[in-house]
Amino acid sequence: MKFFVDTADVAEIRELSESGLVDGVTTNPSLIAKAGRDFVEVVAEICAIVDGPVSAEVTATEADGMVQEGRKLAAIADNVTVKVPLTMEGLKACRSLVQSGIQVNVTLCFSANQALLAAKAGATFVSPFIGRIDDTGLDGMELIEEIRQIYDNYEFDTEVLAASIRTVNHVKLAALAGADIATVPPATIRQLVKHPLTDKGLEAFLADWHKTGQTIL
Ligand code: G3P
Repeated sequence: MKFFVDTADVAEIRELSESGLVDGVTTNPSLIAKAGRDFVEVVAEICAIVDGPVSAEVTATEADGMVQEGRKLAAIADNVTVKVPLTMEGLKACRSLVQSGIQVNVTLCFSANQALLAAKAGATFVSPFIGRIDDTGLDGMELIEEIRQIYDNYEFDTEVLAASIRTVNHVKLAALAGADIATVPPATIRQLVKHPLTDKGLEAFLADWHKTGQTIL
């Protein structure tokens, strides 16, 4: 499974990309607003740090405007992926942008039928929002499982980009469900590596090693 970082915080992206774990980045208008910086500038900076796909979302609501904005965003760098919402206008824009060779991430997906339409529109990625479905009391992971089954049934190339991930358990379950990618907030990525028994075991190993009085170098 590929890991994308779900943030527009350049410092976080730079630090995490040094781990080798970062395969891409996703932003959205809320994350851009949170970063408090010029949209085009911050996308360009992120694209220079990460080689993989960097999602930048349009804000127009009609297909023509989405296509115009998408072309401008795609011109920022070769690894820009244009994000469009899962609406009829977004699907029309998706088809047009993909036909002109631009990668598209269809976002704000909350049903298997929506994901089916995104694949038919030629989406590069579809972003089902797990956490926001969980917030309603339903099971967001069921959506990942449903999309995975439908995409496999018809051998769609669209990649399932599990989004709105809030916990390390979401990452594990998304991987078990067969998501191609998880886009994960920086803090959650850092939590993935942590386990108290690992820390305890390392401490015990080093304590015993120090007793030998030896060094490797
Ligand atoms: O990639 C979508 C993500 O940023 C939304 O997360 O926690 O606001 O549902 P959240």
